[in-house]
Amino acid sequence: MDCFSYRNGELYAEETRVRDIAESAGTPCYIYSRATLEEHYDRLQAAFKPIDPLICYSVKSCSNLGVLRVLAARGAGMDAVSGGELYRAKLAGVPMSKCVYAGVGKSDDEITGAIQDGLGLFNCESEEEFENIASIAKKLRATVRVALRINPDVDPQTHRYTATGKKETKFGVDLERARRFFATYGRDPHATLEGLHLHIGSPIYTVDPYREAMTKTVDLVAALASDGMAIRSIDLGGGFGADYESAQSPPLQEYAAAILPLAKPLYDRGVRFILEPGRTIAGNAGILVLRVLYTKTSGEKRFVICDAGMNALLRPSHYGSFHFIWPVEPGSAMTPARRTLDPKLPGTTTHDVVGPLCESGDFLALDRVLPASIKRGDLLAVFTAGAYGMSMASRYNSSPLPAEVLVSRDHAEIVRRREDFQTLVEHELKPIALQLAPSATTELPR
Ligand code: LLP
Repeated sequence: MDCFSYRNGELYAEETRVRDIAESAGTPCYIYSRATLEEHYDRLQAAFKPIDPLICYSVKSCSNLGVLRVLAARGAGMDAVSGGELYRAKLAGVPMSKCVYAGVGKSDDEITGAIQDGLGLFNCESEEEFENIASIAKKLRATVRVALRINPDVDPQTHRYTATGKKETKFGVDLERARRFFATYGRDPHATLEGLHLHIGSPIYTVDPYREAMTKTVDLVAALASDGMAIRSIDLGGGFGADYESAQSPPLQEYAAAILPLAKPLYDRGVRFILEPGRTIAGNAGILVLRVLYTKTSGEKRFVICDAGMNALLRPSHYGSFHFIWPVEPGSAMTPARRTLDPKLPGTTTHDVVGPLCESGDFLALDRVLPASIKRGDLLAVFTAGAYGMSMASRYNSSPLPAEVLVSRDHAEIVRRREDFQTLVEHELKPIALQLAPSATTELPR
């Protein structure tokens, strides 16, 4: 579901004309819909109500402060994977006690900062990391709460770059080691090991991997109980789908139906549940709007060359992902009924939609059915770009990052200014001499 719709042949974000936003904010720009963010958050909460989870929105999916504030106002906690993301959560007004912090490579500074800020829960990924968290907590005379990230060896049937819950992965520890982990660290006085965390991959379009992962988790909880270790929280991670094509993702109730029968008995015994959704909240809540700079034909191929490509949205070139692309003002006769590879409208032909960068990998769509009438100056909307769009954007080829706009009904505000050339170079303008320790060579006697 989302609040981007065509009316009389023109695209609207909620009650606001996308063309008007693009003309005022410039292109490329990301546009987010507040109502869509809120609706997805509410639907998740309703679907999982029987276990009343703390919904920790995954900051990495779309980390704009404007978006975080919308969700914070709904009561969301945040799932962070870096000090930078925790900083954003804090600025957005999210209580640190509602934040969880995962990631295989937390630095000492990041751990220290998180403890000083009163982080809710560390999602710990390895033995060495646990020892480091415990020793930093001890130094700070603090006690922190820790969950162990486990990988339940489940195939999430998704792109191999984003499958994270298989046995041989850099994330978490496997189930056999998990028991030993609790035996070794379960009684640390400064790092209270009290929870389990899993995130098996993203996006996951069938519910079976969740059922399988949850079954293994329930077994582990029982095994740990027999070892005298009580589990107080289970964080099920994220990974629920988004609709890149119309109605592609199972409704959230279907995911819940697979998970709840296994989770509810634990909830009834006092286990607290956490979810870390990113894409399912933010994916459909954002579009990327581009301007067509040129069209051209090379051999048999027609190209639509836009003012941004993989620098603004990396997913198609990095994962081969599908994003529906359509003109912002196609006219009533060319309004698509469904977002799909070929919306079956007259007067269409295939195009490669590419960006301006100096790589053949700089594309947003290959052999894509689009109106044959597309011309220089048209605006194109790339749908379902809210998650892992701007958050993975780069300045490659010295391209300033796009603007971000948040729409609430007929109100639109810039929540991130477009970068300019000055922004590109501001950290480089003045070289600063490093104060280096004297090197061995300079200490050699003459
Ligand atoms: N929790 C953890 C520990 C994660 O690593 C992730 C995503 C999430 C939650 C949120 O997953 P979501 O609900 O958004 O699926 N760049 C890729 C996706 C990478 C996901 C990384 N981890 C993409 O564009 O598809």
